[in-house]
Amino acid sequence: MDIKGLIRTIPDYPKPGIMFRDVTSLWGDARGFRRVVDELVQPYAGTRIDKVAGIESRGFVIGGAVAHQLSIGFVPVRKKGKLPWKTLAEDYALEYGHDTLEMHVDSVKPGEQVLIVDDLIATGGTVEAAIKLVRRMEGVVVGCAFIVDLPDLGGRKRIEALDVPVFALASYEGH
Ligand code: PRP
Ligand code: MG
Repeated sequence: MDIKGLIRTIPDYPKPGIMFRDVTSLWGDARGFRRVVDELVQPYAGTRIDKVAGIESRGFVIGGAVAHQLSIGFVPVRKKGKLPWKTLAEDYALEYGHDTLEMHVDSVKPGEQVLIVDDLIATGGTVEAAIKLVRRMEGVVVGCAFIVDLPDLGGRKRIEALDVPVFALASYEGH
């Protein structure tokens, strides 16, 4: 099955010159959704993983499915102000301005091995903030898994420089 063939590309969204890689068309396909979950867990066979951390909002969909497939717990990395308990926060840069991600302070225990899951890596700023949060709780980030990588935006290199392996199913050069 061709995963890329199920990812709809929308030119000039959200603004001119951007090719938007839309994973909702993939998720809406029963065999496609099953396939990406199966393929995302494959590199971690034999690796101890205690928890999946999924990043709001598209990372909740795929991260929840990956956690279920691995029969392990799921913890959310949420945008500011959404979590009800005590939180840790990390700022990250956007194209214009910045945003904040939060995790519950007790969502990862010291020494727990965490797989971070999101739909897509571009600049890597979002997942870097999630890595920092897990590390502040003394968790060990064993990897970051994505459906889509846009390597020209530098995210993969940025995250590998933090000693975190990056795995992605579909890479789009020239985004
Ligand atoms: C998108 C995407 C990733 C992030 C990647 O999320 O789902 O989470 O951007 O960008 P980066 O690597 O440059 O940080 P977005 O913030 O648009 O929110 P959403 O998941 O709620 O749609
Ligand atoms: Mg996102």
